[in-house]
Amino acid sequence: MAIKASVINFKGGVGKTTLAFHLSAHLARTHRVLMIDVDHQSSLSAVVLSARLWQQCQQSGLTSNRIFEAYCNRRVLAPGAEIIFKNPLHARQPKYNFYPNLDIVPAQFELDDTEIEMANTSIGGSTVAEWDKRTLLAEWLDRANADTNYDYIIFDCPPATKLVSQNALAASKYFVVPVIPDDLSTRGVAHFLTLVSGKIDARLEHLRTAAPIAPSSVPKNYVTGTKLAAIVPFMAKSAGRAKSGMTNIHTRNLTGLKIRYKNDVIGTTIKHMTGIPESTAMGWPVWNVQGQTANISPAVIKMMSDACSAVAQRLV
Ligand SMILES: Nc1ncnc2c1ncn2[C@@H]1O[C@H](COP(=O)(O)OP(=O)(O)OP(=O)(O)O)[C@@H](O)[C@H]1O
Ligand SMILES: [Mg+2]
Repeated sequence: MAIKASVINFKGGVGKTTLAFHLSAHLARTHRVLMIDVDHQSSLSAVVLSARLWQQCQQSGLTSNRIFEAYCNRRVLAPGAEIIFKNPLHARQPKYNFYPNLDIVPAQFELDDTEIEMANTSIGGSTVAEWDKRTLLAEWLDRANADTNYDYIIFDCPPATKLVSQNALAASKYFVVPVIPDDLSTRGVAHFLTLVSGKIDARLEHLRTAAPIAPSSVPKNYVTGTKLAAIVPFMAKSAGRAKSGMTNIHTRNLTGLKIRYKNDVIGTTIKHMTGIPESTAMGWPVWNVQGQTANISPAVIKMMSDACSAVAQRLV
C-alpha cells in the first residue's frame, strides 16, 4: 500500500509547496512517487510541469479538478489514471531526466470554483452526501490503482481546510506541517492540529458510521486517524550576530515549538535563503541546480536534504 501524506497548513505562504516538491523529489530518488496538486493556485503544477505543459493539461481537462467536478456535474465522467502526468520533471531533455519515477496530477485555477459548487451540491441523503464529497480523492486513488503503482503519494494542499483539503486528509495516513516561526504562524499551530485530528478526522468517522456506509463502499484508500508526521520549521530568518543564528522572534518561537511539540518538530530548520525560490522557479529541487545558479550554497542543499530525510523517516 502506498504511504500517503498531506503537506498542509491553513496559513498561506509558509512553504507547503516548496516542501511538497522537495520531499517528493527526495523520495523519488529511490521510490515511485505521485504528487497530487489539490491547490487551485496550482503552484506545484507550474513548478513541475512548466507553463506550457501545465497549460496543455488544463486545456485537456487532465487535472485534479475533474475528480471533484464529476461530483457536481453529471456530464463530467469521473476520471481514472489518465489525469496522471508521467515523468514531468524536465523529462523532455533526456540528459536532465533525473526523476523517471516521479509523476504528478496537476491542478488548475477552476478547482476553486468547483469547490464552491461542491459545497452547494448534495446527492442523496445529507449524511451520505457529506461523506461522498469528502472521499472523492480516496475513491479516485482506488480507481487509478495508485496503491499498486506508487510507494508514496504526496498531496500539496491549499492554505485552507475546506472540502478539497478534507479529501486529501481523508486519504492520508500522515500530515506534515511547515510553520514559519513568527508570532502569528506559531500561535495557529495548536488550533490547526486540533482542527485536523479532533474535527476533520473525527467528523469523517462520524459520517461513515452515521450514514451508515457499508464496508464494501468505503474506499480502500480512506484512512482513519491521520497522524501528524512532522512539524517543519520553515523560512526562519537569519541574523548573523545572534547566538542561534536567527532573529530573536524566530529563536523564541522555535524554542517554544520544540518545548510544546517535542519530537514532532524535526531537528533541521529550513532558513529563509536565497536560492530556494530561484531553484524552485526553475523547476528543480535545490540539490539539482548546482552549477546552474550562482546563489545556491552547499549549506542550503544540506539543509533541505536533511529536512526531507527527517520527514521521510517518519513516513513509514
Ligand atoms: N526557505 C525559503 N527561503 C526563501 N524563500 C522561500 C523558502 N521557502 C519558500 N520560499 C518562497 O516563499 C514563497 C511561499 O512558499 P510556498 O509557495 O512554498 O508556500 P505555500 O505555503 O505553498 O504557499 P500557498 O499557501 O500560497 O500555497 C514562494 O515564493 C517560495 O519560493
Ligand atoms: Mg502552495
